[in-house]
Amino acid sequence: MAWSPSPSPFKDDIVKGKVALVTGGGSGIGLEISKQLGKHGASVVIMGRRNHVLDAAVSTLRSLSIPAIGFEGDVRKQEDAKRVVESTVKHFGRLDILVNAAAGNFLVSSEDLSSNGFRTVMDIDSVGTFTMCREALKYLKKGGPGRYSSGGGTIVNISATLHYTASWYQIHVSAAKAAVDAITRNLALEWGADYDIRVNGIAPGPIADTPGMGKLAPEEIDSKARDYMPLYKLGEKWDIAMAALYLASDAGKFINGTILVVDGGLWLSQPRHLPKEQVKQLSRTVEKRSRGESALVGVPKAKL
Ligand code: HXC
Repeated sequence: MAWSPSPSPFKDDIVKGKVALVTGGGSGIGLEISKQLGKHGASVVIMGRRNHVLDAAVSTLRSLSIPAIGFEGDVRKQEDAKRVVESTVKHFGRLDILVNAAAGNFLVSSEDLSSNGFRTVMDIDSVGTFTMCREALKYLKKGGPGRYSSGGGTIVNISATLHYTASWYQIHVSAAKAAVDAITRNLALEWGADYDIRVNGIAPGPIADTPGMGKLAPEEIDSKARDYMPLYKLGEKWDIAMAALYLASDAGKFINGTILVVDGGLWLSQPRHLPKEQVKQLSRTVEKRSRGESALVGVPKAKL
């Protein structure tokens, strides 16, 4: 598997000695976060449902000299969450960073989506995230309970921007990611105060070479999408991994309850209704009209 061409702007020891557990760490954004955490000093556990995917990812991580292991498990199953968290601590001795990157998605219109389809994505994204956080809590507490404890672990939840407005054929994912953001903020409030555990989120935009983009923007439909992208390009998995490093490391030590949007500004974008070259002329014309002057340059008002 190829490395991202972009070098890291961070020192290579910023998460040295930390142990990270990444759900959905076998592929896509989760794998890149795993690589970058490992490359910057962490030992990494990846959790996923498919053993062959985990095995390939662990080989990749180890080939980069990253201490890594994979544990099979489904975040929808509480017993799996508990087992994987406990196995992590058994294997590496501690748990400092939990990244919830496991997610489910498919395009479907609301009228064609069954309640079970809706529930399935809620179960993976929202309930799965909460379950993992709760199972990890006792290991993320470092200084013990109390307002002035210090040095707790940290959680990064991968979300989306779909629910900031509304998204076609994504009602289930929008609902699920809205819940993830709510989980992030509420845990940040409670566990930040009680245990000094920081809980933050990352809301990626469209990221190239990920299972999500493969499902949401297959080649057949993505040609017009670029018109709406301010940067006229997709993000890289590396962009999300750098954000995760920032939040998980001491660089982010005063950041708690934030959802960091990493989308090149896409969610703010609107179709351009007027070419840039025409704005100045039109604006001047409108201003003149509002002052009662001729809208046409060089034409006396009396003749209009
Ligand atoms: C309509 C569908 C469907 C489809 C599944 N369902 N696919 N409905 N259109 N294309 C319905 C099924 O009919 C069923 O409901 C219910 O969903 C559960 O389906 P299963 O196949 O039994 O579920 P399961 O095997 O557990 O698979 C879960 C999955 C699958 C979410 C459906 O796609 C998956 O495992 N995904 C994980 C990988 C993934 O999606 N990664 C991309 C994440 S991208 P009924 O009623 O028939 O029983 C991402 C980015 C978000 O998160 C933001 C991007 C900007």
